[in-house]
Amino acid sequence: MKSDTTMQINITRTEKSKIDHVDFNDLKFGQVFSDHMLVCDYENGEWGSPEVVPYQPISLNPSAKIFHYGQSVFEGMKAYKDAENNILLFRPLDNCKRLNISSKRLAIPELPESYFMDGLTELLKIEKDWIPTSEGSALYIRPFIFATGEGFHASPADAYKFIIACAPSGPYFSGKVKVLIEEKYSRSANGGVGFAKAGGNYAGQFYPTQLAKEKGYDQVIWTDDNTHEYIEEAGAMNIFIRINDTLVTVPTSDRILDGITRKSILEIAKDEGIDVEIRKLKVSELIEASKNGSLKEMFGTGTAAVISPISGFGFKGEDFDLPFVENTYADRLKKRITDIQTNKADDPYGWRVVV
Ligand SMILES: Cc1ncc(COP(=O)(O)O)c(C=O)c1O
Repeated sequence: MKSDTTMQINITRTEKSKIDHVDFNDLKFGQVFSDHMLVCDYENGEWGSPEVVPYQPISLNPSAKIFHYGQSVFEGMKAYKDAENNILLFRPLDNCKRLNISSKRLAIPELPESYFMDGLTELLKIEKDWIPTSEGSALYIRPFIFATGEGFHASPADAYKFIIACAPSGPYFSGKVKVLIEEKYSRSANGGVGFAKAGGNYAGQFYPTQLAKEKGYDQVIWTDDNTHEYIEEAGAMNIFIRINDTLVTVPTSDRILDGITRKSILEIAKDEGIDVEIRKLKVSELIEASKNGSLKEMFGTGTAAVISPISGFGFKGEDFDLPFVENTYADRLKKRITDIQTNKADDPYGWRVVV
């Protein structure tokens, strides 16, 4: 893997692997964790050396600022293994860069790219046997940074911890998802932290999502905080809408996460000859398209779910079902991207990285 420098990373191996207790034929998403993790501490104004250690609990004082002011950012990535047993990552530098974009917004010190990339490489080499190979599964990778510095003063911490932990995982959703278009709550606002992968963004979604689940929906589609008239994104996915044969997705902004799957799908779709539009989309346009039959498909994109087809949506007490469509864009694009990710197809984009 490319990085600025190759650094020395200390490794302490676990005395007893847990791998024999894991049923790799029945993996849920993000429920079991591999044997090791990467840890790196920020103290006295600098990041120390990353280390690989056994996966273990973290001890923090109650005054650690993560508990009070929520300074925490994270990423989500996947590692795959191909037929030749190579470990593969998908656009990992983009996750590293986005982690630093998120950190900057939360006043967390940026992490040198080599710490992320070399640390991840070292960790994955050790956790190679934890990478599942069955269709739809992968080693989900969770890099995250949080404030360990202490104090009850509302100001940035002076110490942080960067960790990468891994979870062999099956599919995120088991089938199509039914979504509720949100008309009251907001996930993010102009000038806020919506574009960052900040822990608090997700905490703020849980309550409205719980309400949606009580009404029989799986996910919320967020709308703009100002008018609730425009489609934004889902809980952990960007949204694509097919109207006739045109694939529409909304522009990213400081309210929306710049998804790596989203931008990859946009490129693949264009190269597949699909007409793509990046533009704002009103809920009223979606409803109109549903009523006049031009709404063909909706799907979410994200690392965890890859491409998740939507079966229907609710808005203001009314439900709208998506029609049955042959040869969906969702299936076609999902195959293209997963074939690239898992080395079942050429990668003309240079996105796949062999560790
Ligand atoms: C809010 C949100 N939007 C979109 C995405 C999709 O981003 P990506 O494709 O980089 O995983 C995610 C997941 O990371 C997310 O949490």
